[in-house]
Amino acid sequence: MSNTFPDTLPLIGRTALPVRFAFLLADYPRAVWEGHPNNGQWCQFWLQRHQMFRDFSEALTDGCTQLADANVEAAAFQEWFVPRVNFYFGEIDTHHKVEEYHYFPALAQADARMARGIELLEGDHRTVHDLLLAAHQAVVALGTVIRGAPAEIAGPALRARDGLAALGSGLGRHLDDEEDIVVPLILDRSEPVLGIG
Ligand SMILES: [Fe+2]
Ligand SMILES: [Fe+2]
Repeated sequence: MSNTFPDTLPLIGRTALPVRFAFLLADYPRAVWEGHPNNGQWCQFWLQRHQMFRDFSEALTDGCTQLADANVEAAAFQEWFVPRVNFYFGEIDTHHKVEEYHYFPALAQADARMARGIELLEGDHRTVHDLLLAAHQAVVALGTVIRGAPAEIAGPALRARDGLAALGSGLGRHLDDEEDIVVPLILDRSEPVLGIG
């Protein structure tokens, strides 16, 4: 009987990761990650980066809502928002490059079953990149309006919020699934054996 599942699952609309991708998750569920002896420095730092992205996404999206609702002055918003959103966009890009060039190849080498998962995660990165470009466009448009026509801020602020929310949603799904694929392998093998950390 042929497999009825597609070989890859697009990030948009994905709600769960089948066991063929997260093949070690049942042996190492999230409840055992913290405090596991193989949850080393690299893994902890990497999980912290992911949490930082989730936190930035929430704060930046909320900031745009506050601006749209006129709960904050445009100048004060810009001062708070611009350095943070630029940092957020830049760090996502850097994080993905480091994973693609360094960590994904090391992880794929460690277990033949990882190839499918790594392929999925690389596809996610392309989708997140497209979401990031769209969010960036909306953020740039908002900045233009704030500098030129401050009376018309609400619409562009809501569009920036929607762009950031879409990015945060796609990125959040990717981060959760990436962790479910990668962390169990680290706990099973250890960072030194995998050549990371
Ligand atoms: Fe990633
Ligand atoms: Fe990541």
